[in-house]
Amino acid sequence: MPSHALITGASSGIGLALAEALARRGRNLILVARQRPALECIAAELTQRFAVQVLFRVCDLSQPVQLSGLLHELEQGDLHIDLLVNNAGVGTYGALVAQDWSDEQRLIELNMLALTRLCHAIGTVMAGQGSGQILNVASVAAFQPGPWMSSYYASKAYVLHLSEGLREELKEYGVKVSVLCPGPTRSAFFRNARMELGALQDSKLMSAEEVALITVRALDKNRALIIPGWRNRLLTIAPRFLPRWLVRRMAGRIIRRVSLAS
Ligand SMILES: NC(=O)c1ccc[n+]([C@@H]2O[C@H](COP(=O)([O-])OP(=O)(O)OC[C@H]3O[C@@H](n4cnc5c(N)ncnc54)[C@H](OP(=O)(O)O)[C@@H]3O)[C@@H](O)[C@H]2O)c1
Repeated sequence: MPSHALITGASSGIGLALAEALARRGRNLILVARQRPALECIAAELTQRFAVQVLFRVCDLSQPVQLSGLLHELEQGDLHIDLLVNNAGVGTYGALVAQDWSDEQRLIELNMLALTRLCHAIGTVMAGQGSGQILNVASVAAFQPGPWMSSYYASKAYVLHLSEGLREELKEYGVKVSVLCPGPTRSAFFRNARMELGALQDSKLMSAEEVALITVRALDKNRALIIPGWRNRLLTIAPRFLPRWLVRRMAGRIIRRVSLAS
């Protein structure tokens, strides 16, 4: 039975770049996201360029019923998943009390619940088989509170801590767990969160391809924590040496400088 890497949020940005980097190494893929036309195009292109099998599943992971359907199909099918990449994630920008609850609920369902459910379901199968690898995508945001993006920052802290915990738990079952913490990266993320990056120059953002390349190399070495780029590593270390009141105040000031897209 051929093995596949399942990647969520593979229709754009970091997920798409990871899909390409893995296909380049000859990995078969299962791509998951909501936009069918994008997935169709990407699957056809990667299959043609790299001669690998690329399947896709259209699923809104923030909808528990759709996620159950996907898990059921994976359980019933004869696909062997040897790498799970939990990449799909969204952000919201502005004070929590100013957000529509439906957007906040979607963030929580996708960034935390769906990711945990996929770790549980696919991690259980991997543990039974005594092998497998899981990569969860958190963020440098995981290392500090983020006023005006409070729920997003908190969701990434959850992903970081969950992943580090799972790494220790699953070690004795032969399953490897890593967590990727990118810094600001060029993608549709900011537009989707309705953010205008006036203060952050485009040149300061990493490309999704660069993040993906660093990540696949780090996965080969089974690194626990993958933080691409020295600037981003600095961002994760600095909060440890500063008082918490200063960290949250500085983070709030920086995030507030970003403006809402019209
Ligand atoms: N960009 C950054 O600066 C940055 C920094 C740190 C961490 N990250 C994290 O990196 C991950 C990828 O983000 P990105 O920057 O690549 O953003 P992106 O380009 O907006 O990609 C997000 C991906 O998630 C999918 N997605 C969104 N909602 C979904 C849902 N409900 N169900 C299934 N798939 C869904 C999107 O596809 P569809 O629209 O087709 O569903 C898309 O493929 C996220 O977890 C994000 O938090 C990003």
